[in-house]
Amino acid sequence: MKRSKIAGVGMYVPANAVTNEDLTQYMETSDAWIQERTGIKERRYAQRTGETTTTMAVAAATIAIERAGISPQDIDFIVFATLSPDYYFPGCGVLLQRALKMREIGALDVRNQCSGFLYALSVADQFIKTGMYKNILVVGSEKHSFGLDFSTRGRNVSVIFGDGAGAVVLQPTEQPKQGILSTHLHSDGESAELLAMFNPGTHANHWTEQPLADFNDAPIADMFMSHQMIDKAQNFPTMDGPAVFKKAVVKFPEVIMEALSANGLQPTDINMLIPHQANLRISQFVQQKLGLQDSQVFNNIQRYGNTTAASVPIALCEAWEQGKIQPGDLVCLAAFGSGFTWASALLYW
Ligand SMILES: CC(C)(COP(=O)(O)OP(=O)(O)OC[C@H]1O[C@@H](n2cnc3c(N)ncnc32)[C@H](O)[C@@H]1OP(=O)(O)O)[C@@H](O)C(=O)NCCC(=O)NCCS
Repeated sequence: MKRSKIAGVGMYVPANAVTNEDLTQYMETSDAWIQERTGIKERRYAQRTGETTTTMAVAAATIAIERAGISPQDIDFIVFATLSPDYYFPGCGVLLQRALKMREIGALDVRNQCSGFLYALSVADQFIKTGMYKNILVVGSEKHSFGLDFSTRGRNVSVIFGDGAGAVVLQPTEQPKQGILSTHLHSDGESAELLAMFNPGTHANHWTEQPLADFNDAPIADMFMSHQMIDKAQNFPTMDGPAVFKKAVVKFPEVIMEALSANGLQPTDINMLIPHQANLRISQFVQQKLGLQDSQVFNNIQRYGNTTAASVPIALCEAWEQGKIQPGDLVCLAAFGSGFTWASALLYW
C-alpha cells in the first residue's frame, strides 16, 4: 500500500504580539506567574476584524500548496480542524474552499480541539493510502482571542491561548523511508467537562449535576443562547488546569510509545518530536519521561502560546524552516486536549 508524505507545510500567525505584561492591563496576573507555570512569554492575536480563523488558514494553506509545487485547483479534499470556527455552521472547510477558488471538492471539518490536527491528518492519510485522493489539504487554525474571558475570573484559561494557523499538503509516496508510518487516535469522554466551552450548545443541563447554563424556562423558547448566560459569563471556555495537566503527562508519553512500539522503534530513533504546544512544563515532562535530548524536541509555545489545532502544524513548519527536520528523519507528532482526546503520528520526512 502507498504511504502519505507531507509534500508542503505552511503557517501563518497574526502580526500582533501580546506579551504577558500586556495582559496585566486586563486581569490580575504577572509575567512571572505565566512564564513559571506555562513557559509562555507572548502570543499572537488576530485583528479584531478583517482576520478570521479561515483567513489565517488561507494564508497557511497558500504557502503549503506552493511548497508542494501544486495549485489550489489540484487539491482533491480538505480536512479542517478548529474549535473556533467563523460560523457555528457551515464549517470553515467550505469557506476555505471558496476563498482559494478550489474545485467542488469535499471539505470535512474536524472538532477534536488540541488533537484536531492529528485527527485530521489521520483521516487524510487513510484517503491517500486507499488511493482515493492524491492531494489533500490538512489545516488547523484558531482565533481564540475572540472568545476568551479577559477578566481575572478567566485568567487560568485566557493567558494560555493564542491565534494562528498551520497547514500541510499530503500526497502519496512509494519511497521506502518516507511518509506516515502510523497514526493513533484515542478518546475518553469521562472528563469531557474538565476542559470545555458549554455554551452556546444544546446540552440543556443534561450531563452535569451543576447547571452549566441559565435559560429562559418557557416551554417553547430559545435555549441555545440566553441573556442570562452572557450575564453570568457562561459563554467562555473553562478548564480544570491541574486535572488536565495530570492526565496530559500520562497520555502524551503513552501515545508516543504506542506509535514507536507499533513500528518496532525506540525513543532514541526519534529525530524530532513535535508535541502539541499545550504547556512548556508538559513538554519538558514528556521529554524527561522518554529520555529525549533537547535537540529531539521542538517547542515554540514561548512565542505563540497554545494555538490548539494549529499548534502542531505551526511547530512542524517552524522546525522544518529552521532546518531541524531533514529528508529521511523520523518525526513524531503527538497531542492531548479537550475531550479528552489524544493522538500521535509517526512519519519519515
Ligand atoms: C493552567 C495551569 C498553568 C495552572 O497552573 P496551576 O499551578 O495548576 O494553578 P492552579 O490552577 O492550581 O491555580 C493556582 C493559583 O494561581 C491562580 N491563577 C490562575 N491563573 C492565573 C494567572 N493567569 N495569573 C495569576 N494567577 C493565576 C489561581 O487562581 C490559583 O490561586 P489560589 O491558589 O489563590 O486559588 C496549569 O494547571 C496547566 O498548565 N494545566 C494544563 C493546562 C493545559 O495544558 N491546557 C491545555 C491542554 S490542551
